[in-house]
Amino acid sequence: MTFQCDDRTVLDDWLTVGPSTRLTGRSSTNPYRTKLLSSDVDVWRDGQGKVVARCGDSTLMVQDAYGYLWICPSGKPTKTIFSFPEYAEPGRRIVDCDGIGVAVSGLRMVENFLDMGHFPYVHAHYLGEVPQTEVAAYEVNVDESAGEIWATNCRFYQPKTSKSATTGLDVQYRYRVMQPMSAILYKTAFPRPGEMDAIGLFVQPHDEESITAYCLLAYYDDTTTETDLLSFQHTIFGQDKPILENQRPKRMPLQPGSEVPTRCDAMSVAYRRWLKARGTSYGAVR
Ligand SMILES: [Fe+2]
Repeated sequence: MTFQCDDRTVLDDWLTVGPSTRLTGRSSTNPYRTKLLSSDVDVWRDGQGKVVARCGDSTLMVQDAYGYLWICPSGKPTKTIFSFPEYAEPGRRIVDCDGIGVAVSGLRMVENFLDMGHFPYVHAHYLGEVPQTEVAAYEVNVDESAGEIWATNCRFYQPKTSKSATTGLDVQYRYRVMQPMSAILYKTAFPRPGEMDAIGLFVQPHDEESITAYCLLAYYDDTTTETDLLSFQHTIFGQDKPILENQRPKRMPLQPGSEVPTRCDAMSVAYRRWLKARGTSYGAVR
């Protein structure tokens, strides 16, 4: 086995190794090198523009999708990569926020992304504000055919929901978990309140306790500069980073009752159950 991982659900999945722009100026003699599942992976484009990935002597299955590079470590994917229709939807603006390194399990990273309860405390004056800390009841469903989790009818008062927001807003949210380490959040678009912006979170597991979390925006926003959009996302991620890195254990406990549930964590409970049911253990407490 090329990779130090015995979790079939991860080996047979599509894992990102970063934005496709990493390949600019790269070649077989000067590849983009990155760490995936504790192994060095080299990626480049051949003379025909085809993406090539190698790990040691092994050629890997790789694809370029949604402006990101995706590797199936085993070469035997159980399904095609998730759909992301908003990426190609007319009127949306695609902004790649690149990644931030975090010393935490990829599962912890995704769980934090799904949690509205921390907004007023960790993202005060942006995504929440004391005393408006109430997380209203919402619905969680597993789409068995797609193998995805959806949380719908979520809402939260946000003082500054995005860079373009000039007032507080009662923001509608939807969450979608496509893979253990990939999720999309849909939230009210401030400039077009009838529409929802999409924010993709793609996690590259360097190992079980260290990751890069990439963020891709598919926004309705023609006015905010790219620099301002990036700086807003990096501010939010920068607020999460120390909290995530101080979590103990660093890996995700999946045993029921191993962490005291709070009333706002229906999505977290569903995510942990879903991981356990599909047998995902990489980044979890064994
Ligand atoms: Fe956060």
